[in-house]
Amino acid sequence: MNFDIAVMPGDGTGPEVVAEGLKVLKAAASRAGFTYDLTQYDFGGDRYLRTGETLPDSAIDELRGHDAIFLGAIGHPSVKPGILEQGILLNARFALDLYINLRPVKLLPGVETPVKDKGPADIDFVVVRENTEGLYASTGGFLKKGTPDEIAVQESVNTRKGVERCLRYAFNHACRSDRHGKLTLVGKTNVLTFAWDLWWRAFNEIGDEDYPNIIRDYAHVDATCMWFVKNPEWFDVIVTDNMFGDIITDLGAMIQGGMGVAAGGNIHPGKIGMFEPIGGSAPKYTGQNIINPLAAIGAVQMMLDYLGQSEAASWVEAGIVHAISKMSSQSAGHMGMGTSQVGDLVADHVAGS
Ligand code: IPM
Ligand code: MN
Repeated sequence: MNFDIAVMPGDGTGPEVVAEGLKVLKAAASRAGFTYDLTQYDFGGDRYLRTGETLPDSAIDELRGHDAIFLGAIGHPSVKPGILEQGILLNARFALDLYINLRPVKLLPGVETPVKDKGPADIDFVVVRENTEGLYASTGGFLKKGTPDEIAVQESVNTRKGVERCLRYAFNHACRSDRHGKLTLVGKTNVLTFAWDLWWRAFNEIGDEDYPNIIRDYAHVDATCMWFVKNPEWFDVIVTDNMFGDIITDLGAMIQGGMGVAAGGNIHPGKIGMFEPIGGSAPKYTGQNIINPLAAIGAVQMMLDYLGQSEAASWVEAGIVHAISKMSSQSAGHMGMGTSQVGDLVADHVAGS
């Protein structure tokens, strides 16, 4: 088995954490007995400042040909906020139709959570966020812009097809042997009565017809924020729209121990997936060997799972847990060891030494 992987290290500390992720990928591949080819892409802030290019159409076409993309981080202090996020990250999500944003929220043993009296047995769920529609569809407009009477309309786009393919992915995910067969729809049926009416109907129709054994639950998005802190153990698989998913997964990242350990995947099932640490480029730590690489290594774990290498993925998780047991903290600069030492610890554990 050979995989074709695109690597986009990106900005700031992205390249450093990607290097550690690749170290771990190498160890996992030689133990599992698969091979891979890497193609490097330099999209990010520096290239934009040099050429004015974010992610050109030709690059999108090339990326489409890979099995997976490993992304470091996007965000540069000299580039106006929004340009790289929209030009690279959102552009890739839309152009490659990566309609699932998968974000596991799992508190690993040895990681501190700010949630009092909760441990690894309580915080272990995954958020399936719709990744191409909703408020991110960028439809709407201005009326009388710049005048005292101006109007700004930002529409949430919810197509039956888009909602249904996301729900089906979430139902399938809830059927996995490493999940518990419960799917919670997170929405706002009491106020956003058009969008969430569609989601609610599709959720129940699909559930009744094709997934009768999955336990279905519903929570409003505001209450979900409360439950994440009060009773995170209630959740197994969550499915929600793009904007709500964006918001609740930052809260999710915090209860699992912070941005230093949180990873995510942007997936078009069966076609391509783009995996990333979700913490950002942290430019002030660039080149100091102090940034935590565990989120990027977690992204490699997710990529392996996506590529069907679930055993290798489980070795990576075990390696992460091992590294955590040797670290004094999970926050950048306080790990008690350097970025590359953390990567070595995980990679050596994965290699089986
Ligand atoms: C995320 C990020 C992005 C989003 C930004 C950087 C455009 O916050 O991946 O959650 O809003 O989706
Ligand atoms: Mn976000």
